[in-house]
Amino acid sequence: MFGKMKNFKVDKNIIKIKYEKLETKITIINSSTVNFFVPNFRKNQKSNAIENLIVEPCNIDVLKQDSYIEITTDNLVIKIYDEFKVDIYNKKGKIICEDYRGNRDPFIKNCAGRLDIAAQEGHKPTEHMDYKVFIPKKLENNTYFYGFGEKTGHLNKNGCHYINWNTDDPSPHGETYEKLYKSIPFFISMKDEEAFGIFFDNTFETHFDLGKENSKYYYFASVDGNIDYYFIYGPGITEVVKGYTNLTGTTPLPQLWTLGYQQCRWAYCPESNVIDIAKKFREKDIPCDTIYLDIEYMDDFRVFTWDNKKFPNPKKMIKKLKDEGFKLVTIIDPGVKVDKGYKIYDEGLKNGYFATDKNSIVYTNWVWPGNSVFPDFMNSDVRRWWANNQRIMLDYGVSGIWNDMNEPASFNGPLPDDIKFNEDGNIVEHKEIHNVYGHMMDKATYEGIKESINKRPFVVTRAAYSGTQKYSTVWTGDNQSTWEHLRLSIPMLMNLGLSGFSFCGTDVGGFGYDCTPELLSRWVQVGAFTPLFRNHTTIYSRDQEPWAFDKLTEDINRKYIKLRYKLIPYLYDIFYKGERDGLPVIRPLVLHYQQDDKTYEINDQFLFGESIMVAPVLEQGKKARMIYLPKGDNWIDYWTKESFEGGQYIIKEAPLEICPMYIKEGSIIPNFPELSYIGEKDIKTLILDVHTVKEGKFEYHHYQDDGESFEYKDGKYNLYSIKVNNSHKLNITIDLIKNGYNKIYDEVQINLNGTNKLVRKFENDKVVVNIDKN
Ligand code: GLC
Repeated sequence: MFGKMKNFKVDKNIIKIKYEKLETKITIINSSTVNFFVPNFRKNQKSNAIENLIVEPCNIDVLKQDSYIEITTDNLVIKIYDEFKVDIYNKKGKIICEDYRGNRDPFIKNCAGRLDIAAQEGHKPTEHMDYKVFIPKKLENNTYFYGFGEKTGHLNKNGCHYINWNTDDPSPHGETYEKLYKSIPFFISMKDEEAFGIFFDNTFETHFDLGKENSKYYYFASVDGNIDYYFIYGPGITEVVKGYTNLTGTTPLPQLWTLGYQQCRWAYCPESNVIDIAKKFREKDIPCDTIYLDIEYMDDFRVFTWDNKKFPNPKKMIKKLKDEGFKLVTIIDPGVKVDKGYKIYDEGLKNGYFATDKNSIVYTNWVWPGNSVFPDFMNSDVRRWWANNQRIMLDYGVSGIWNDMNEPASFNGPLPDDIKFNEDGNIVEHKEIHNVYGHMMDKATYEGIKESINKRPFVVTRAAYSGTQKYSTVWTGDNQSTWEHLRLSIPMLMNLGLSGFSFCGTDVGGFGYDCTPELLSRWVQVGAFTPLFRNHTTIYSRDQEPWAFDKLTEDINRKYIKLRYKLIPYLYDIFYKGERDGLPVIRPLVLHYQQDDKTYEINDQFLFGESIMVAPVLEQGKKARMIYLPKGDNWIDYWTKESFEGGQYIIKEAPLEICPMYIKEGSIIPNFPELSYIGEKDIKTLILDVHTVKEGKFEYHHYQDDGESFEYKDGKYNLYSIKVNNSHKLNITIDLIKNGYNKIYDEVQINLNGTNKLVRKFENDKVVVNIDKN
């Protein structure tokens, strides 16, 4: 495809190599991140995921050797050969990523049997596509793969094949599913404790085969588009995640109320039903911040309208809810009903805002409103229009927007590949932009909300591409009320987190099918630690609110929802830090324990930030489970306060009301007092759970701001440093090290190792506590 290398030139961070047939471009983004680009489809390099790429000045040496060109940075040596073969070494000279030179050799050959007969029952041969872009890499034994965003299956993706083509498939998502709603063409490879990431920034249908086709190689490939991929060196997984989010953006700090409990169902209506649900939460003393309206609130599913019979006065209803401390979030789908006289349709049609077929006729397909047209979100005028439309909902008092069906979903067959979109003058086809359609809708939604309310926008989306984390939180679509789906949600959320999507969640209790009291009890125990904590179910299912079953289930829901509210300041601290370093809320154990190989494939435990490990029960009827405690730390049972040394498996009894949780020794966890909703009380006391180490020092930073505006970006926030030193005395010092926000705590309450309660006033922005031992 490339031929032999002819010559090369270097211009600062860019190395261009001319081959017999093509020119390639290598950009050293920084000493650990390198981009490889070949314009085999389109001349210009463009990205929907990366905005404001920063190419850092760094040391780069380029040398011509006999058969290759050698590029050296402070952290890597990259050797480029004929046929654009690339090998990457670490500074110790060890090869870490090597192009595969052999031929494709699928394990599975088409068998000699009667395929036509087998096909009658639906048995189909595995396809071995001829991709336009195909990058095979050598696969070594003991390589682990993580990332890929929202995929089913286990944490480690070795041996799997995945496809990125945003797909609305409501049948029960299982381990063999290759594609779902989101396309995140990014993964982390780890071998011998050394990790790197690959981000293949190609929006066409992409394929990733991790040794399923043949264990000698893995590959990433696509049906079309450019070769455009980034190599991101670790060696720590944390550094790879930082490097990836440095390119595609980190999850921004959300509004505080979005971290509270959220209640949804398809569909709360009419108004009286919504008000009743809200009342029940307060009567039953179950904290809740948010109620959702699903599609039934609209006038015959016309987006940005209300059904006036079911909701005669939305403004008044929303005000009533607000008075009780509830926010309302409404669903918006991209499909616009074909209907002359309907403002959104008329405006869009007049201005040419809808996608067209190859003959430039507005394209229609079937979604909830019936025959519908699809806004061309690739066009900046359309995004502006959509952004302005958000105001319609926000003026009613709606607090957030839930973008659904934006793969885009269509009921009358998929959108043909050649549907046309107008990328500001450049006509692009559906097959190129399908995977970013939802992303661009989310971007428009985010910008519209930001302009309207000047607060951090709350957008929830089903479809996404790499980088959508900057604009929206994600949920994992239509799961089912099954134990299998509770189980698979954990590796899915961990991999979403490693792929930049820190603010993510599943439908707690499951969407399709009917939940059971036991399943909801176990699911709420996971949900309490899921950044987006939303219970949602489908239209035909059994009720699934916290009180929908029996007293025990209700009590368990209350207990874990209250626990969640208690942990919100800790969660908010994780988000604050995550906006800077890209690290997610839900983390696989391997992220912080890469030196401990027992953590590499733990699918049923996760870290909530760095200090809390959750080991939920994920099987019906189970009352105890095995837990692995990672090596290098001691772990305190949250319920019994018993301390365990890391590096061992233990058995924990876990009756229905207990979700096993462990706090890392040497942790500080800030708490909220009891709240029914965010903002119910002015919080004047900083409550800190301090879990000391037997000997030594540790430090924690706690963040505080107004919880909603962008003023923190101008420094209007407070930062408290909490230092613990346990030597001959136990010394705890709390210092306001940054004072940019005018409300500061009056006092500190220290809960020492789960027992001692000490309350001290701040004096000169400081609290010092000295405790004699014994
Ligand atoms: C889709 C969504 C689901 C929603 C339903 C009706 O199936 O995934 O969450 O309730 O549409 O709008």
